[in-house]
Amino acid sequence: MFSDKLEKSLNQQVKLESAASALYLSMASWCEKKKLNGAASFYYAQSEEERQHMLKVFKYINEMGGHAKVASVDQVDLDFENIRQVVQRSLESEKMVTASVHQLCEVAREEKDYGTLNFLQFYVDEQREEEVLFGNILDRIELIGLEGQGLYYIDKELEALAKQKIKTEGISTGGK
Ligand code: FEO
Repeated sequence: MFSDKLEKSLNQQVKLESAASALYLSMASWCEKKKLNGAASFYYAQSEEERQHMLKVFKYINEMGGHAKVASVDQVDLDFENIRQVVQRSLESEKMVTASVHQLCEVAREEKDYGTLNFLQFYVDEQREEEVLFGNILDRIELIGLEGQGLYYIDKELEALAKQKIKTEGISTGGK
């Protein structure tokens, strides 16, 4: 059993992971409407992955004797200027989640809850990987550009990333 403070912080993480899942679902929809089917597959997979992150914390809270709470998320962005803005916004969102994970680790450390600290290591690693991933995609966009066939190639790269994610992490993308 953990403290009220740690339980509250873990439930806050549930909310953030849900919000990330909702944001990526919205991005998948935007990409699909723009006929960027590779990018849509990538964001459907991202959304599903975030839902799995949410469920993992959710179940951990109850397993440890706390009360996992479903939280409504704020309205997410529905419209974007272009794919560059979508990816930039994704990176910003990941940075915010990383800050929250690090804060959670601080709380667990203060309370000498080494089990929870160990549990959180997955999220520390995951956030580092996600920030690198989105940073790399932004670099590719800067390099290739979105003019002419650039957008087509970026879409293909995101499609390849989606396939990789589905294969290595067993994620469903809603039939795409
Ligand atoms: Fe699970 Fe990338 O936040």
